[in-house]
Parts: sequence; structure tokens; C-alpha cells
Amino acid sequence: MKGIVLAGGAGTRLRPLTTITSKQLLPVYDKPMVYYPLQTLLDGGIKEILFIVAPERAADFMRLLGSGKDFGAEFSYKIQDRPEGLAQAFIIGSNFIGTDDVTMILGDNIFVGNDSFLHDSIKTFSKGARVFAKKVPDPERFGVVEFDDKMQAVSIEEKPKAPKSDYAVTGLYIYDNSVVERAANLKPSARGELEITDLNNLYLKENSLDVSIYEGEWLDTGTFDSLLDAGIMIRDLKNKK
Ligand code: TTP
Repeated sequence: MKGIVLAGGAGTRLRPLTTITSKQLLPVYDKPMVYYPLQTLLDGGIKEILFIVAPERAADFMRLLGSGKDFGAEFSYKIQDRPEGLAQAFIIGSNFIGTDDVTMILGDNIFVGNDSFLHDSIKTFSKGARVFAKKVPDPERFGVVEFDDKMQAVSIEEKPKAPKSDYAVTGLYIYDNSVVERAANLKPSARGELEITDLNNLYLKENSLDVSIYEGEWLDTGTFDSLLDAGIMIRDLKNKK
């Protein structure tokens, strides 16, 4: 299993904090944000990790994270010239992925309170795709899963105006190797991006998408409030230990 941390993007909602640096390098309490999704992959037992970053920030990421030796892992870096969508990661990362399966995490997503979930999930993963859903108060900001009465996923809608459930797809995805070819065949959406929701729906249509409910705490730190909330949450967890 290879790992990708997707840490490009424009971070427009956090300007001016992101005018001269990447969102994923901003502090969340006592560490740069990207350390948290990185730790999730490391806890999952993943040792080969690709960071996909914006061109103007590549040197900062490399200076911060280095070869991976200090983390007991091997890091690579690739540039995404423009933020053209989450699913573009599998085109940019195709050589890195090679013939392996891949887990991708978004560089601004923080999963805490359940250190073994990814490890356990990868152990039972063989084919298809697996995503992690979480009940949220503001599902319209995310990809939203519609479930039938047996809690089987029937659709995923990207940022729907009228969400069919309160379950958001979090920024952590496990795919088999067919993701590389599937991503290469995607067409940009109306907003001009290669959508991860389109990719997930391809698997869903073939009955090969597993939607697991994530039981820990999850935060997407893309807004001022969620960034502050994440810092406070991490501080409180540290003080409890
Ligand atoms: P978003 O939060 O959707 O986008 P953003 O980070 O550019 O922020 P804003 O909406 O405020 O402009 O992206 C989620 C994560 O994915 C974040 O870590 C950035 C990353 N990303 C990329 O690396 N490349 C992309 O093409 C996109 C769309 C996002």
C-alpha cells in the first residue's frame, strides 16, 4: 500500500494566512497541519508516501519533511501545477503508485481519537475502494452519502444543495490499483475539476465501494473556525494525556 498526502490547493478561504504559505503548513496547536494527516498514514503502517504540493511551496515542504528518514518512512514529492481537482492526484502520482494499491489523505484533514482504524482497514482491504463517512452538521460542504434502509450506500453527491443524509465523505480514501486508469479517464466537472466524487461513484456503480463510518473525531481545517477548533481540540487531547 502506497500513501499520498494531497497538499496543494489555493486555500482561498484562509487568506491572508495563505497568501505567502500553504494552508497545510499553518500551525495546528504545536505542529504544522500536514503532520496530522501524515501521522494517520504512518499509523496505518504506510511507509512510502508521496506529497503532492503547489509549485511555489515545494521547497518549504521538502525543508520541513525531508527524506522521511526522521519519520521512519520514505517520502517523495510531486508538483501539481494548478489545483485541478482531488482526483488529479492519481494522474500526477501514477508512476509512484506503480502496480500497488493506494491510500490518499487530504493535507488539511485531521483524524484523531482512533489510532488503529486505518491499519485495521488496510488489513481487510483487497479490491475496490473504501471511503470513510462521518455525520456532520453541515453536509452541504462535502460529498454526501445517501444510504438505503440497510445502511448500504446508494449514491454520493458533491456539495448538494439538499443533502440526502448528514454523512460527509471524509478526506481519506483507499483504492485498488484500477484508480490510476479510472482517474486518467475522468472528465472535468462543471467547476473544471477532476472530482473524487466522480471516481467514488464509478466504484459505487460496480458495487465495489465500501463506505465505513468513522468513529473518531474528524476535522477539515479549511476555514478560520475549523482551524481554530482543530488547535483547541489537539491542545485539549494533549492536556488529557
Ligand atoms: P479544498 O479545501 O477544497 O481547496 P483549497 O485547499 O484550495 O481551499 P479553498 O477552497 O479555501 O480555496 O481542498 C481540500 C484539500 O485538497 C486541501 O488540502 C488542498 C487539496 N487540494 C489539492 O491539493 N489540489 C487540488 O486540486 C484541490 C482542489 C485541493
